[in-house]
Amino acid sequence: MVVGFAGSGSMGAAVARGWSRASLRPSSMLFTDSGSGRARRLAAELGGESLESIEDMADRSDLVVLAVKPAALEEVAPRIAGRPRGVVSVLGATPLSRLAPALAPTPVLRTMPNLAVEVGRGVICHAPLAERQRAGVLGEALALLGSLGIVFEVAEEELDPATAVMGCAPAYIALAVEALIEAGVEAGLDPELSSRLVSEATAGVGHHLLTHEPGPMQAAIASPGGSTEAGLAALAERDVRAAFKAAVRASLERMAEAR
Ligand SMILES: NC(=O)c1ccc[n+]([C@@H]2O[C@H](COP(=O)([O-])OP(=O)(O)OC[C@H]3O[C@@H](n4cnc5c(N)ncnc54)[C@H](OP(=O)(O)O)[C@@H]3O)[C@@H](O)[C@H]2O)c1
Repeated sequence: MVVGFAGSGSMGAAVARGWSRASLRPSSMLFTDSGSGRARRLAAELGGESLESIEDMADRSDLVVLAVKPAALEEVAPRIAGRPRGVVSVLGATPLSRLAPALAPTPVLRTMPNLAVEVGRGVICHAPLAERQRAGVLGEALALLGSLGIVFEVAEEELDPATAVMGCAPAYIALAVEALIEAGVEAGLDPELSSRLVSEATAGVGHHLLTHEPGPMQAAIASPGGSTEAGLAALAERDVRAAFKAAVRASLERMAEAR
């Protein structure tokens, strides 16, 4: 299946890089941008082709990944509509009630991936697909997306909250990691060593959390009177839990404004 990209920015590139290493992948990939040169660089990196025209890309693609900013939908969608067999949208806060008419008659799958698709460990949520759609190109698209990580079908109204906790949250986790690396350096660690230690520990904890509840995990590490307990108390004093919840609420408010 030939897959074209409308947009070769952070998310378009992450999806393309993920597919370039996956066992199930597009037969070829075509890239476009709005003039930055990112499409050309991505094609050179991954072995695809970059095209000047979105229309040419859409004509030559079986499936188009719509990976522009939501504000560009009205400009880009008419140049794609009716050309490929299907479209996968990764646009945040852009409901099917806007996507479907903008891309008609081409069927569209609304998805929300996170950036870890690049390393094959993404979380990809999508709006429900009807049985007959699963039998067509959008079903093939879902199979391709499955090679980038784990796929969850969620009710469309759950997509924004899902986005807030797994699309935006990797940035919050990266911030926590960055702060811990800095703390390690302040405590005397070599910066590179601190970075490796925190990143490896975070990757390991992420894996561990797939089979362990976060509450008992904290309890298992924080023995009474010990150093972790002291650290957790310092975080509680600064109400870090409330800060994370505020971040999720702020993301949701921004999505609501954008709709
Ligand atoms: N970043 C994330 O972690 C993430 C997570 C989930 C969903 N998303 C969604 O993914 C979408 C893209 O986000 P992003 O972070 O990848 O943004 P980005 O880095 O700004 O990339 C946007 C891409 O769209 C291209 N573009 C804009 N207008 C265009 C046009 N008229 N014709 C062709 N290409 C055009 C840009 O071209 P230039 O390169 O020339 O500027 C750029 O390549 C958004 O809708 C966002 O909601 C992002």
